[in-house]
Amino acid sequence: MRMYDIIEKKRDGAALADEEIDFFVSGYVAGDIPDYQASALFMAIFFQGMDARETAHLTMAMARSGDMLDLSSISGIKVDKHSTGGVGDKTTLVVVPIVASLGVPVAKITGRGLGHTGGTVDKMESIPGIDVAPSRERFLEIARTAGGVVVGQSGNLDPADKKFYALRDVTATVNSMPLIASSVMSKKIAAGADRILLEVTCGNGAFMKSVDDAIELSRQMVEIGENVGRTTVALITDMGVPLGACVGNALEVREACDVLQGRGPADVTEVCLELAANMAELGGKGTLDECRVLAAASISDGSAFAKFREIVAALGGEAAALDDPALLPQAACSRVVRAPRGGFVWEMDTERVGTASVILGAGRAKKEDGIDYAAGIVLARKTGDAVAEGDVIATLYAAREDLLDDGERVLLDAYDIRDEMPGERRHFYARVSRDGIERY
Ligand code: URA
Repeated sequence: MRMYDIIEKKRDGAALADEEIDFFVSGYVAGDIPDYQASALFMAIFFQGMDARETAHLTMAMARSGDMLDLSSISGIKVDKHSTGGVGDKTTLVVVPIVASLGVPVAKITGRGLGHTGGTVDKMESIPGIDVAPSRERFLEIARTAGGVVVGQSGNLDPADKKFYALRDVTATVNSMPLIASSVMSKKIAAGADRILLEVTCGNGAFMKSVDDAIELSRQMVEIGENVGRTTVALITDMGVPLGACVGNALEVREACDVLQGRGPADVTEVCLELAANMAELGGKGTLDECRVLAAASISDGSAFAKFREIVAALGGEAAALDDPALLPQAACSRVVRAPRGGFVWEMDTERVGTASVILGAGRAKKEDGIDYAAGIVLARKTGDAVAEGDVIATLYAAREDLLDDGERVLLDAYDIRDEMPGERRHFYARVSRDGIERY
């Protein structure tokens, strides 16, 4: 078998045979297939797609490319969560402690930033002292004792996705439905949870731009999960505007702590509570309505924030930094950005906001790049807000003034300010499960 023939076959729109998919996945993971051929195949898949059989086979080949985690030493129904990514999406940092505090075990393996979107591991790593790559034994021990843990994709778990993800990030091949579905579901299947909640983002800051595409991606992922015996539910959430006010790693940790202490922005709080309630329901804690009440109570009684401190401390992180944001990384330079005219923020180009934060240093332009954990944006005005000319619409943080210049230019372009006020946005569009599609 030759990689050249596989690329050519997909380029010309044919479906790949199971053996061809296996050849590619094992060959690339082993280092026998170079990046340039893998990139060419990803681009061919991007344009030609994959059918349901190919996507399911790719998923399982990726899941089996490394270890499959055994979570049986953790008692209870293990529920995992995954977001397809967004700008300002810090939901995992909030939802895992809520759900763990309700007694539903969550042993979560999470990813780095991809394209214009942030990654939970990068956010966690901004907490001083934290080790997001503990040994497998330590990971399981924290899940057993704290009831929840979030770590990076280390060791030999789904090495295919690790390599694919880094390459897709820098070859403009991220937003392909079969590549996203296989990436997400291979990780979730390899990570061993009994039940899976997917947060499928949609809008101009997500990889899926339309609700219909997000529903189709959700349908494919739910089908893959259910076919291997993992109950899977997808909630389609709005990413047509950044979630919350903070974009950037340490800034988002700070905002997650605010939400966990009941003083976070309304949009992130609402989204996190609904995701947590759905996870608690999957974990057998009651009806969805009962779980909504439990999730809200875990914030008001302090147990969710206490759980976050416990998880961070168990990973060696400085829990005091969660109480005092001054202990988190601080940027050397900052700049306020002012509204060029008055009116209402009609729309935000959310992807551009994410790109501005990458330019400031919060994400990677090349897969070898490091991250500036302190860099990012705090948005003072978002879609629907009134502004007067000269009002502060955002504050930028970076290591150097020239980065602020570039970031400011891109961020200003992301704002569309008009005289009219836009309609109200919703946070959820649909729920997809084995019972079907429920549009809200
Ligand atoms: N999230 C993932 O885990 N993989 C993708 O490909 C996109 C979002």
